[in-house]
Amino acid sequence: MGEGDPAIDALQHDGATYSPPADVAAGAVVSDPAVWTRAADDRIGWWEEQARRLDWASPWARALDDDDPPFFRWFTGGTLNVAANCLDRHLAERGDRVAFHWEGEPGDRMDITYADLHGRVCRFANALRALGVERGGRVAIYMGMVPELPIAMLACARLGAAHTVVFGGFSAEALADRMNDFGATVLVTQDEGWRAGKRIPLKANADAALERAPGVAHSVVCRRTGGDVAWRDGRDLWFHEVEALAAEECPAEAMDAEQMLFALYTSGTTGKPKGIVHTSGGYLTGAASTHRMVFDLHDDDIYWCAADIGWITGHSYIVYGPLANGATSVMYEGGPGFPAQDRLWEIAERYRVSILYMAPTAIRTFMKWGDSLPAAHDLSSIRILGSVGEPINPEAWEWYRDHIGGGRAPVMDTWWQTETGSIMISPLPGLSTLKPGSASGPLPGISARVVGEDGREVPAGRGGYLVIDHPWPSMLRTILGDDQRYVDTYWSRFPGMYLAGDGCRVDSGGDYWLLGRIDDVMNVSGHRLSTIEIESALVDHPAVAEAAVVGRADPVTGEAIAAFVTLRDGVTGDEALIADLRDHVARQIGAIAKPASIVLTPDLPKTRSGKIMRRLLRDVSEHRQLGDVTTLANEEVVSAIADLATTNPHQED
Ligand code: PRX
Repeated sequence: MGEGDPAIDALQHDGATYSPPADVAAGAVVSDPAVWTRAADDRIGWWEEQARRLDWASPWARALDDDDPPFFRWFTGGTLNVAANCLDRHLAERGDRVAFHWEGEPGDRMDITYADLHGRVCRFANALRALGVERGGRVAIYMGMVPELPIAMLACARLGAAHTVVFGGFSAEALADRMNDFGATVLVTQDEGWRAGKRIPLKANADAALERAPGVAHSVVCRRTGGDVAWRDGRDLWFHEVEALAAEECPAEAMDAEQMLFALYTSGTTGKPKGIVHTSGGYLTGAASTHRMVFDLHDDDIYWCAADIGWITGHSYIVYGPLANGATSVMYEGGPGFPAQDRLWEIAERYRVSILYMAPTAIRTFMKWGDSLPAAHDLSSIRILGSVGEPINPEAWEWYRDHIGGGRAPVMDTWWQTETGSIMISPLPGLSTLKPGSASGPLPGISARVVGEDGREVPAGRGGYLVIDHPWPSMLRTILGDDQRYVDTYWSRFPGMYLAGDGCRVDSGGDYWLLGRIDDVMNVSGHRLSTIEIESALVDHPAVAEAAVVGRADPVTGEAIAAFVTLRDGVTGDEALIADLRDHVARQIGAIAKPASIVLTPDLPKTRSGKIMRRLLRDVSEHRQLGDVTTLANEEVVSAIADLATTNPHQED
């Protein structure tokens, strides 16, 4: 492709816009419209200003060390303790303030204050120390959403040890691989977890993993369900017992700003999982400052990020960001549909939640379940909404604002990644005019561009590769144990620029529209089409709850568009509907985008973090042997879809 050639043809049309609500704008944390230019004029000064909101044990000598790119270092020479920033510094003024309104799936509840959390973290840190965990130590954590999970993370931080949290839905094998790669010496787990009324055998999985992870000497087990578990004396210890025996006095270690706080493994579509390394000073600066600004955090807010701590969203926006800001959060253990499909709205109503952050997949599920569920609850406390993890289609965006946000609350569509550590592209509630489906623009201090195949910026309205062209404090530092893979994956395609791997276009108003992973782009008759835009058009149809689109090899057009569609509850699908869906896409974005085939399916294959696995749908469409399905949350659905695709392909005329 030549100069200025778009990497992707963007088809989406712009629609409605929403100005900041007057009451939000009036008292907003960030209210100066010059904030973006001020930060851009002195990017490093901007980040130093954010870092100064933390408590440092000793000041940094240099804000950004860029001597050896892409191995950037931030706030070098400075020391701090992350746990002290999240807990100790709040004690004098807000020790009695609730840090977490914790709610268990069976309905048990606990309010945990900052003072409570501090005491428990100190004790558990001492307990870990007694098991040989010191500065620079390595601890693996495999738990459900119980209070002991953030306690274990913060205890590591207090000691200056690094943690890796492995999501409780992963298998024994995945846990063993991660513990071995990380070099963990201690595992923190629990007997069983609750999920949708079922018991998840966490310790049994952990025991199987430990057979393959000889470097892990101890397993500390939190008692949650009280279910029977196997026990190995000498290796296994009860969380509550070691906590009770430990002293409450535990000084926080002053750590180098660049000390690893944690590694979190991301599974790409191919290759072994990558241990994404995050540091102490830069990471906390990014997580805390973005949490405060993007969610317009005020003292009386009740904040709820309905994600799992096992993902980066939970690390940055359940644990580190909110606690560093002294916020009061809701933390919920279980599934959204248990015991009934209005569980989340019942919780939001009870705690008078004012800020709610969740994934588009969840939002589309709630749309599918129907409007009457949220309507039965008083959600009038909700002030700000957030979305993360996937592009949010305008239909879901509008539904979220109307049915959860009372037709008032602005939706912050936040784009970021495990690798970026904190939110990169997002509106600010008091300042941004919102366009449903667009993530607005880079936050103050962040510089993002859209470039074509040749690395040059593409003109407004054209699609291309999203890159970040200046380092930022919460960026990943490397892939654990594999510096070369870090360079190859993120920094080699366009020298000097971080390659996010997502497609994007910037419209003439300067707003960013994310177009999905570059790997998912289709080439239809020489047009490069983003799956996201076609999915968005399908979901815009009143009968459709969710849609996934992939390119399937086609002798005539190169690739043909294969769509997989889940209908809303109560809608029955027939040939007439399929024809209508195809016409709807043609009307919305043009005949070129009309799906060649549409398969109606009860569900779509999703990763455990809720992302649609388009790779598997490509395999199904091309009648290939299925690739790796280990990260799939709902394995059974793939074979069901494969059957549907062969028996009932709804081929184009
Ligand atoms: O493709 C983008 C998508 O999720 C990817 C990052 O996934 P992960 O590392 O699991 O982190 C998810 C939580 C931060 C991105 O490369 N993504 C995330 N947020 C958005 C998004 N795509 C579009 N719009 C978003 N708001």
